[in-house]
Amino acid sequence: MQGYDLRANRAKPVRASGHPQRPPEATARPAPATEPDPHNPIHNVFWRRHRSVIEEDLTRLRSEPLTFFPGFQLSGELSSIQTPGAWVITRHAPILEVSRKPEIYSSARGVTINDFPPEFNEYFNSIIAMDDPRHARLRRLVSAGFTPRMLARLEDSIRDQAAMIMDEVCERGECDFVTDVAARLPLRIVCDLMGIPGSYHDFVFDQSNTILGAADEEYVPAFGDLITAILTAGEALTQLMDDVAESKVGVESEDLTSILVNAEVDGERLTRAELASFFILLVVAGNETTRNSISWGLVYLTDHPDQRRIWTDDFETVGTSAVEEIVRIASPVVYMRRTAQCDTVLEGQPIQEGDMVTMNYLCANRDESVFDDPLTFDVRRDPNPHIGFGGPGPHYCLGAHLARRQIKVMFQELFTRIPDIQATGDPELLASAFIHGIKHLPADFTPTKKTPTQH
Ligand code: HEM
Repeated sequence: MQGYDLRANRAKPVRASGHPQRPPEATARPAPATEPDPHNPIHNVFWRRHRSVIEEDLTRLRSEPLTFFPGFQLSGELSSIQTPGAWVITRHAPILEVSRKPEIYSSARGVTINDFPPEFNEYFNSIIAMDDPRHARLRRLVSAGFTPRMLARLEDSIRDQAAMIMDEVCERGECDFVTDVAARLPLRIVCDLMGIPGSYHDFVFDQSNTILGAADEEYVPAFGDLITAILTAGEALTQLMDDVAESKVGVESEDLTSILVNAEVDGERLTRAELASFFILLVVAGNETTRNSISWGLVYLTDHPDQRRIWTDDFETVGTSAVEEIVRIASPVVYMRRTAQCDTVLEGQPIQEGDMVTMNYLCANRDESVFDDPLTFDVRRDPNPHIGFGGPGPHYCLGAHLARRQIKVMFQELFTRIPDIQATGDPELLASAFIHGIKHLPADFTPTKKTPTQH
C-alpha cells in the first residue's frame, strides 16, 4: 500500500504493519521551519503557508485513502506528550466507516494525534473522549442543554448578541473580523448557555485560545511552557465553573450549568472534574469551531462575490445550504482521532490493536468522489453530505444546530447592517494541526450608524 509523503512531495510506500517505528528524537524547542505536514501537532509550519498551497497539498494527500503520520518523541519537559504516529484517513467513505464503528474505533483513549500526560484528564476528559455506555449516559444528560426549548431560548440571545456586536463595530469602517466579530458571538452564546456572566467573556476567550492555540506562539510564546499553559488555562476555567456551579446548587434555572449541577447519573451527581471538563469541552468545541466557520465564511464570500449575491438575493431560501457549504469548506475541526480496539482492516490496510486512526475531515470534505468541484465554493450545493460536524455515530456534534443558527444569524446581521463588508487581506492562520483556524482577518466596510435600540 502506498501513502503520500507531503514532506518529500512524492508518493512513497508506507509500512504495511500498523506498528509505529521508533520515533526520532525531536528537540523541546522545534526548529522554526521543518517540512510541512498537516498532522504534525508541534512543527506546524504547514499552516503558515498560503491557503492555495495548503489546498494543493490536501489534494495530493487524498491520492491515497490512508497514509501514515510517523510521529516523533519530544524531549525535556515536553517528553510526556506522546506522539507515536497515526494512520490518517483522507477520504470520505472510510471516515464514515470508522465513525459508525465505535466498538472497533474507540474515543476513550484520546481524540488528538498525540497523548497528553495524565494530569490533563482532570480538565479534558469529557464525553468527546469516552465510549458507551458512560458516554451515552452523560450525553443524554447534557443533551438537556440542546433541546428545542433550550435552542428557542438561545435564539433570542443569538439575535440580540449579533445585533450588539454589529453596534460595536458598524461605525468604525474597518475591523479585525475574527476578534471583533466572529469570535464574539459563539463566546457569548456558550457563556449564556452555561450561565457565565458577561464580565468573564474576555477571560474565557483567553483561556480557550490558550488551550486550542497552545502550539501557536501568539498564545503561548515560550514553546517549552506548552503543558503548563494548557493546564493553567484548564484550572482557570475549572475554578470559574466551581464558582458558577456553587451559585446554582438547588436553584431552578434554565441554564445548562443549573441542569448539570442538579442532575444525577446512575444516582450520582457529576463530580467537579466531570462538570469542569464538560464546560471546557463546550467552551473549546462550541466556540472556536463556530468562530472559524464565520471567519472562513467571510473569506470565501469575499473571494466569490457571485456567491454572496446569490445568497443576499434570497437570504432565507439559500441560507440553509450556504451555512452547510461554509462548514464544509471551513471544516474547522481538521481531524478527530480514534484508537483501534482490535486488529482490523481499513481500505485494505491492516490496522493493529492500539493503532491511532485519525479522520481528516478537512481533507475528506474535498473528496472528489463525493463532492463535484470540491474546491468550488457553492452556496447552493446540494447534496452536501459534508462531515464537518463529524461522521455519523455516537459522537456526532451535539451543538450542530446551535452552530448553524449562529452562523446564519451572524451573516444576516452582516448583510443587513454592513452589507459591503469584505476581507481586505489574507487570513492569518492558527498554527494548529487540530483546528483549521483564523487568528486575524482584516476587513473593511462603509460605516453605518448604530441602531437606536436599548441593549
Ligand atoms: C461549526 C461549528 C462546529 C463544528 C464544525 C463542530 C464539529 C464537531 C466535531 C467534528 C465533533 C466530533 C465528532 C466525532 O468525534 O465524531 C464535535 C463534537 C462535539 N461538539 Fe461540535 N462543532 C461545532 C459547534 C459546536 C457547538 C456550538 C457546540 C456547543 C455549544 C458543540 C459541542 C460539541 C460537543 C459537546 C461534542 C461532543 C459530542 C460527543 O462526543 O458526544 N459543537 N463537534
